[in-house]
Amino acid sequence: MGEQATVTLAAKADLNEMIQLSSVTFPNRMNVHELRKYFELFPQLVFKAVTGDKIIGFACAGVDMYQTTGYLLFSNVSPDYQGRGLGKRLIEARLAALRHYPTLERVLVTVNPTNTASINALRSFGFVYSHTEKDYYGPGTDRDIMALQLAPYQSVNLHPAAIFQSEIPQETA
Ligand SMILES: CC(C)(COP(=O)(O)OP(=O)(O)OC[C@H]1O[C@@H](n2cnc3c(N)ncnc32)[C@H](O)[C@@H]1OP(=O)(O)O)[C@@H](O)C(=O)NCCC(=O)NCCS
Repeated sequence: MGEQATVTLAAKADLNEMIQLSSVTFPNRMNVHELRKYFELFPQLVFKAVTGDKIIGFACAGVDMYQTTGYLLFSNVSPDYQGRGLGKRLIEARLAALRHYPTLERVLVTVNPTNTASINALRSFGFVYSHTEKDYYGPGTDRDIMALQLAPYQSVNLHPAAIFQSEIPQETA
């Protein structure tokens, strides 16, 4: 049997391993302070992808104070496991958890316009380009905003702590 990957809720005890991973996948973007805040603010919206006892990806989401807009805040997958569908499963887990907010109308995400993997993954869940914000992260670092409009809330059988388990496809390259 091939390697299994599980996507499930992360815990504060995972914080150091998560920071180590993000320093490889996206240097100088995530830091302990930011990640700690996500755990404090949105403990049901931080997911990790694990194989064995190794964290190979994680992703965070949040909601605004009116609970009408959700945000996909950060995601990353270990370079060894990229391109095998885990990024999409981390989106799926966060969207399933966000659907628990009955008043949520939309989900927004900022993307680097050159980040093809991220944009493709988001498109496959129905996200569309909304607008560009100039100098979003400071001079010269524009960001595109992508949006997913949600259908009116329906009580469906989603669980924020759902475990999404599947076999990791072998690398094709
Ligand atoms: C963005 C990221 C999380 C995507 O995770 P992933 O596991 O590699 O993505 P998936 O395998 O689920 O693929 C997602 C989509 O991107 C495509 N894709 C994957 N790698 C790609 C690449 N290098 N170039 C172009 N498209 C790519 C896939 O084909 C898929 O598209 P599809 O639905 O049309 O088939 C991962 O590449 C990563 O960690 N990047 C560095 C950190 C980062 O940029 N994070 C996002 C901003 S916070």
